[in-house]
Amino acid sequence: MNEKGPEGFEAFYSSIFKERWPRLKEALLAQKKHVAVINPFSKFHFKETPVQITGISFEHSVGDLFPSPEKTEEGYLNYYPLDAASILPVEALDLRPGDKVVDLCAAPGGKSFLCALKLKNQGLLVSNDRSAARRARIHRIFDDYLPKSEQKNHTVTGHDATKWSLYQKSIYDKVLLDAPCSSERHVLEDSKELSLWAQGRTKAIAISQFAMLASALDIVKVGGTIVYSTCALSPLENDDIIKKLYQKREGRFELIRKEFPFGEPTEYGWQVLPDTTGWGPFYLAMVKRIK
Ligand SMILES: C[S@@+](CC[C@H](N)C(=O)[O-])C[C@H]1O[C@@H](n2cnc3c(N)ncnc32)[C@H](O)[C@@H]1O
Repeated sequence: MNEKGPEGFEAFYSSIFKERWPRLKEALLAQKKHVAVINPFSKFHFKETPVQITGISFEHSVGDLFPSPEKTEEGYLNYYPLDAASILPVEALDLRPGDKVVDLCAAPGGKSFLCALKLKNQGLLVSNDRSAARRARIHRIFDDYLPKSEQKNHTVTGHDATKWSLYQKSIYDKVLLDAPCSSERHVLEDSKELSLWAQGRTKAIAISQFAMLASALDIVKVGGTIVYSTCALSPLENDDIIKKLYQKREGRFELIRKEFPFGEPTEYGWQVLPDTTGWGPFYLAMVKRIK
């Protein structure tokens, strides 16, 4: 099998998704839909009754394209547009005001913003990202969407998530690990990226994703929850990461199973694919530390 370039990509993903692949590929190349999560600090409301997806607790509207967010007279942007599947990991965290939360790979900051809405400025929210340029985007989102007085529990850090547990252990109630991944949707859309694709890349990314998850298991408190998520299609970066956690950290965690309003179960988690839902691709799995 040619393991590189467009042909390698095609061979790799059609061997995984089989007869589903042509439909899935077509859906990946289609125009993306968005959800606009309404910013309560902007006091904005859509004029027409918004289309909602039931089971999502943030006030939102669904559409193909939304105009760019605008500031209302309150001085804050009116909504945050994102893929509906990106809301699921935040729902999965089941955040309560007062929780101590770290978002290990947080930039540009969409999911951290949703976490902030749930935490209501209580407890602690650490938004971490190793890239300085991308950390600047987290600051910008928080300042564009939230009054300063609503950010007192929020801090932005720049650590390497794979090494975090060397410095902190058993600190957080909830850990969000929205890991860097193969992002095949972007690869398919970009002929240069597609020509550079190689099967070895997903294997290399998976090594660093596992290091981050192993680190997350040390920094969450016993009884606390980790949500692991990616926008990858490659199972090496999804269920295989949880499988490896069973192999390497057996007895230290339990899998949490949950149904979401759209998508499908996998062996260890939940996957949202655009051919059936119009959203994603997105994968998430939840684990609870028990030791
Ligand atoms: C999938 S994006 C996160 C998207 C973000 N959670 C959101 O919803 O806006 C992954 C992020 O991980 C960051 N990253 C990559 N390697 C990292 C590492 N070793 N430690 C911390 N952050 C890392 C990247 O800079 C990138 O911003």
